[in-house]
Amino acid sequence: MARKRVAILISGRGSNMVALIEAAKDTAYPAEIVLVLSNEPAAEGLKQATAAGIKTAIVDHRQFGRDREAFERALQSELEAHSIELVCLAGFLRLLTPWFVRQWEGRLLNIHPALLPAFKGLDTHARALAAGAKEHGATVHFVVPEMDSGPIVAQAAVPVLPGDTEQTLAARVLAVEHRIYPQALRLVAEGRVRIDGGRCLIDGQPVHQFHSGTHS
Ligand code: GRF
Repeated sequence: MARKRVAILISGRGSNMVALIEAAKDTAYPAEIVLVLSNEPAAEGLKQATAAGIKTAIVDHRQFGRDREAFERALQSELEAHSIELVCLAGFLRLLTPWFVRQWEGRLLNIHPALLPAFKGLDTHARALAAGAKEHGATVHFVVPEMDSGPIVAQAAVPVLPGDTEQTLAARVLAVEHRIYPQALRLVAEGRVRIDGGRCLIDGQPVHQFHSGTHS
C-alpha cells in the first residue's frame, strides 16, 4: 500500500516532529514525512528537519496581520503543492479556524500534553500539579474546531510522583508523547481508525489507554 504523505506543522523545538521523522525512516512505516511547515522562521525544529533531509517551508503568520484565513490559505497551498494527505500538528502554536479544520476533517492530528478532556489549553503540567492530580499524560486526537477537543486516537498516562516539578513531570510526559504520536499516526495511516459519533474506533473497537512502560 502506498505510504501516506504527511506534513508536520511546528512552531518551536520539534521533538515530536523528530519522533515522527524517526518512525517514518522505516520504509515499512505506513506514512512518509514529506514536509515540515513552520509559522515561526526561527523554530528550532526546522534545522532538525533539514538535517534529516526533509523539505521545510515557512509561512510566517505575521505577514498576514489579523487575517487568519489568509494565513491558512497560504498553509493550504503549501500542503496542496506537496500533495499532502495527512497533517500532524506538533507544537504548532496557532489556533486554526473552522475553515481550515473542515478542509482536513479526519486527516488532521494534534498532540496535547494532558489526559484530555482534562487540562485543555496551556501550562498543563503546572495545572496538573496544582490540582494534585495522581496521573497525567498525553493525548493524540483528531482536530475539531473547538480547541483540544476531538476524537481521541491514543492516550498514555504517567504517574505524578512526590517531589515532581513542572520540569520533571513535563519530561515524563514528553517521553510518552514521543511514543504515542508515531503509534497514532501509524494507525491512522493504515486506515484502521474510524470516527464514530465523535469518538474513535480502532479496528472497530473503542480506544484503550496505553500505560507508560507497557506496549499498546
Ligand atoms: C508538546 O508538549 C506537545 O504536546 C505540545 O507542545 C509541545 C511541543 O513540543 N502540543 P515539541 O515541539 O514537539 O518538542
